[in-house]
Amino acid sequence: MDSIKKTNHFVFQTYLRQGIAFVRVKGTSLWDEDGKEYTDFLAGIAVCSLGHCHPKITEAIHRQAETLVHVSNLFYTMPQADLASKLCEKSFADRVFFANSGAEANEAAIKLARRYFQKKGEKNRFRIITMEQSFHGRTMATLTATGQDKIKEGFYPLLDGFSYVPFNNIDALKNEVDETVCAILLEPVQGEGGIIPADPDYLKAVRDLCNEKGILLIFDEIQCGMGRCGTLFAHELYNVTPDIMTLAKALGNGLPIGAMLATQDAATGFDYGSHATTFGGTPLATAAALEVVKIISEETFLEQVRQKGQYFKDKLTKLKEKHSSVVDVRGKGLLLGLEIKVEKDKGAGFFVGELMKKGFIINGIQDKILRFAPPLIIEENDIDRLISTLDSLL
Ligand SMILES: Cc1ncc(COP(=O)(O)O)c(C=O)c1O
Repeated sequence: MDSIKKTNHFVFQTYLRQGIAFVRVKGTSLWDEDGKEYTDFLAGIAVCSLGHCHPKITEAIHRQAETLVHVSNLFYTMPQADLASKLCEKSFADRVFFANSGAEANEAAIKLARRYFQKKGEKNRFRIITMEQSFHGRTMATLTATGQDKIKEGFYPLLDGFSYVPFNNIDALKNEVDETVCAILLEPVQGEGGIIPADPDYLKAVRDLCNEKGILLIFDEIQCGMGRCGTLFAHELYNVTPDIMTLAKALGNGLPIGAMLATQDAATGFDYGSHATTFGGTPLATAAALEVVKIISEETFLEQVRQKGQYFKDKLTKLKEKHSSVVDVRGKGLLLGLEIKVEKDKGAGFFVGELMKKGFIINGIQDKILRFAPPLIIEENDIDRLISTLDSLL
């Protein structure tokens, strides 16, 4: 049996997969079983941001695999300590909790926000407001937090204490806030919701509201963080700082790792025994992530992301001017979305399939948005090739 048949037979059928089995990757290229080469404009959904098998990350994994892979959080290890201190040095945060995925990082943030107030004796302050169209993960708490009904279907009853408001609408948020709200959770740039950036005035107003009411502000930067939007963290584009931030995806460039970062004050919500996970901050993943953070946080690297992002966005905007079937172009840095008018059943799926035939990997959201999240090392000539192929398809 080949990998496709075997997977379809033995693995839960929860993913709608493209009919390609990849066997080898390098930089921005992927090769399938027949040796066909594809250029990556998805990076494993905003994960392999430094490109596939980046030599420094591969070396860090090798080195760590030969030295110390796992001992548990009953002990101390240097890679975890180094990564935590590097993340704090590069951000607003004072403390880090390590998890294994984005959902788990958000789960930790939700638990921290609730316990922060319960510890202070404010037992009725447990509500969390999130945004419509948001995506925060698939665990019970994070799917409850997610502002999309389709993710929740079949899993009722959900957790108590979550409310949803339209994104970028400060009045709706103000109307929902009362003394029972402990946190507001949002993505500075919504990913799965359709690549929708927060309005700068909105994000500032949310911060002001949180300050005024003593509410914790949580940014989910799992997709939009780690250089994806042209700054190390997307909120830097807005000059607005959260109390808690979650990371995952690109943090390990492919190794599974998540992190929840918090200010010293917010971090007081957790004590010994409040939260734990066996693999959180395991030396192998943290050794890789430390190299990732070092490379991505270099200003020259981030400047290139901004330049390439602008170059790509300008080209997509030209396609919009040329083709009436393009409704919108949006996004920040190298997290870009092209919204199309779905005509004659030709939705995002059609473009994903046709581009795949021509050797490009992208993906579609909600059948009308093409998502581009290439490795941040993508070259301008690769962008040009994709644009001309897309031009002819449109
Ligand atoms: C913004 C955001 N939050 C959370 C998650 C969940 O992360 P994971 O799939 O690693 O659990 C995702 C995944 O797509 C995401 O985009």
